[in-house]
Formats: sequence, structure tokens, C-alpha cells
Amino acid sequence: MDKNLYADHIATLRSRYDDIMEQCGFDTLNVFSGAPKVQFLDDNYYPFKVNPQFKALVPVTDNPHSWVIYRRGQKPKLLFYRPVDFWHYVPPAPQTFWSDHYDIELLSKPADAKEFLSAENAAFLGETAGLEDWPIGTPNPQELLERLHWARAYKTPYEFACLREANRIAVKAHRAAEAAFRSGASEFEINLAYLQAAGQGENRMPYGNIVALNEHAAILHYTHLSEQRLPEAELKTFLIDAGADCNGYCADITRTYAYRDGEFAELVAAMDQKEQELVAGLKPGLPYPDLHRECHHKVGQLLNQFGVIKTSAESAVESGLTGTFMPHGLGHFLGLQVHDVGGHQTAPQGGVTPPPAEYPFLRTSRTIEENQVFTIEPGLYFIDSLLAELKDSELATEVNWDKVDAFRPFGGVRIEDNVIVHKDRIENMTRDCYAQ
Ligand code: GLY
Ligand code: MN
Ligand code: MN
Repeated sequence: MDKNLYADHIATLRSRYDDIMEQCGFDTLNVFSGAPKVQFLDDNYYPFKVNPQFKALVPVTDNPHSWVIYRRGQKPKLLFYRPVDFWHYVPPAPQTFWSDHYDIELLSKPADAKEFLSAENAAFLGETAGLEDWPIGTPNPQELLERLHWARAYKTPYEFACLREANRIAVKAHRAAEAAFRSGASEFEINLAYLQAAGQGENRMPYGNIVALNEHAAILHYTHLSEQRLPEAELKTFLIDAGADCNGYCADITRTYAYRDGEFAELVAAMDQKEQELVAGLKPGLPYPDLHRECHHKVGQLLNQFGVIKTSAESAVESGLTGTFMPHGLGHFLGLQVHDVGGHQTAPQGGVTPPPAEYPFLRTSRTIEENQVFTIEPGLYFIDSLLAELKDSELATEVNWDKVDAFRPFGGVRIEDNVIVHKDRIENMTRDCYAQ
């Protein structure tokens, strides 16, 4: 990663943190990376997931018992855990593109951090378990968290570079996954092909990969990974929603493939077109929920065009009929967390703006602004439980049930890209990677 990009990034971060700490009345932030969590009645640990507030300050994602101590206006101190330990991997002392920007101290024991900590005018960010008697300061003050979360929606050029790289890795892996699907691999085998091509293990993925064949594509968070290979004659659909990591930043990409030509393949192609229109609809100043409504119109158009419903798109949106076929939100902020923070926040100091009542699962109620990064992920699914409810409702007469039954074995379609909103243009990082 480019050293100068990081230098500019940390300068921006420091100025943001200085302002926010002053507004909230703190001189020091003590930010803890986290402690490994042991499984119940066991001596094995869950995979370590770093505190996002820690990786927001330093690109270290794999080292527990570490700290960033940030005193307003001063070079941040990194307490980097390096025990003498013949049981576990011990990462080397950092010497890389970012390390000059921190005063680095190595800790040989977790408790050695205490001598560097002070609770005076200090806030603590992280999980407090095990630190009860430590001088850490006020844990997770709400306004401080809100202001930091708000700021994280505006990415720096370094963050764009990390997100582009995460997309590059994920697109390479998506290509390998498609090839595995076409060669008859099971969901489990496709996932292995994905991870192999990404060069990243399962625990490094930003979320559990969704690798779904046929009707499994209708299960929104399907992470089961069946080991069964399907006979070629039964192969219909492959939906994969999988990302990658770069310095703690996430990709979150979905593609859907039809195994053979036919009406479902046409639906996938038509959705791909609509998805690109929605990406083009991201404009600074537009409330994100307006684009979500536009998405429902497009889903209504597809339902009408493919003969699934008898009514117009407008009427299907109005009546809520499209909600059966697209029950999730159009997209979300993307960054250090796959569903990045602050999507429902009203103002820098806090407040919650809920999504429109008819779309409770929409994760973004904010207005689109320059330097924000979103996913755009329209979908159209044939979900048994929702269709059963629909069949029992007064809207049942507006549906061609034969058509629904013909599409049901295909599960559904979702296309998801990762997009930067620049001042005067939209950058579709995902499509740019596919174009290379
Ligand atoms: N992969 C989770 C999502 O698309 O939001
Ligand atoms: Mn996704
Ligand atoms: Mn997503």
C-alpha cells in the first residue's frame, strides 16, 4: 500500500479525532483491540475479531491484547502485543507502510499495558470484560461513538484504495467460484475454490460466504455449504455473496448465474441491467430511501415483464406486493465493517432516523453524499414462507401462481456491487475489477 496515501489518511484521522475529542471533552482515547473469547466448557477459542474502533485507528486486525493510546494532538501510541509464547503465532513487530506514524511499544504480557494507561480525561473504546480494575477511562461514551461513527461514512483516498483492493481480490475469487460451479462442484467445493483464489481463509472473510445452488438462492443468509454435488441435469442457479479483506476493509459482492439459457437466465440479465441503472442513480443530495423505492419499481417492472404479476409495477409497489419478492434493503454503507456504522444516524452528535415503515430492513436512511461508499444489491426471490403468506392475502389474485411455481426451483437472483460516490461521478469498484 502507498505510504503517502497512508500519511494523508492518518493526518485526516488525527484532525477528526482531535475535533471530536474536544467536542466530547476528552484528552485521551484508550482503544483496546480485544481479548480472545474461549468457547463454553472448552479450551478452544472463537476466531479473533478485532474491535472495529481499533482497526479504524491502525491497520492491525489479527493481534489481541493490543492498544492504541491517542492523546489529543500527539502522535498515537501503539501497544503491540508480542508475548514469548511457544503455543501461538506471534506477529512480528510492525515495520510497514503505516508503522512510522505510531510510537510502538511491544508488550510481553497483557497486563504490561497498564503502565501506559491513564484514566484522566480519558475515554475507553472496546469491550471492558477482564479490564474491570484497569485505569481505562469512561467506557464507550455514546456521543463520542456517534461522532466517530458519523465521520466513518466519509472515506479517505487510502480507504478507497483498500476497498478497491478488497474488490480486486473478491472479483478474482468470484471468477474461480463461477468456474467451479460450471464444472459441477458442490457448494462446499465452490467455497474452497473461492477461498483458494482469494488467498484468504474463512476467518478472514468479512462475513460468512453465501454459496447457494438452486432453491438455496432463496434463503437470504444461506451459509450452510452443502457437500452434495448435484447431477448436471439438476443444476439451475448459482448465487454467491462473498467478499474479501484488505487492511481491515471489506468487499461485499454478489453474483447470480443461470446454468443454462431460458427464462431465468433472462431474468438474471434483466436484473443485472436494473442494478446498473440503480448504481447510476446514486447522486449526492438524494435520500438513499428514494433509491430503495426506485428499486421496488424496478422489481415491479421485472415481475410484470416476466409475467409473475398481473398488475403494473406502480400498483405492485403501492400495494406492497413487491415486498414479497424483495424483502431486504437496497444496500448499506461499506467500510471497516460490511454493514458499516451510522446508516440510520440523524446527525454527527447522534439520533436515529428509522427507515420508512414499509421497508424496515433498509439499513440506510441517510442522504447520499460525496466520499461515501455503498453497496447496491437489488434482488428478486421466490421464498416459500413469504409466498405462502401472499397466497393467503387479498393480493393473491394479482399473482400468476403457475409462473411463481416455474421460478421457485431457481430460488432467486441478487446482484451486488460496491460503489464510491465522488463529487461528480460514480465509481463502481466491482465492475471496474470485472472489466480488467
Ligand atoms: N453479504 C451481506 C450483505 O450483502 O449485506
Ligand atoms: Mn452481500
Ligand atoms: Mn451487502
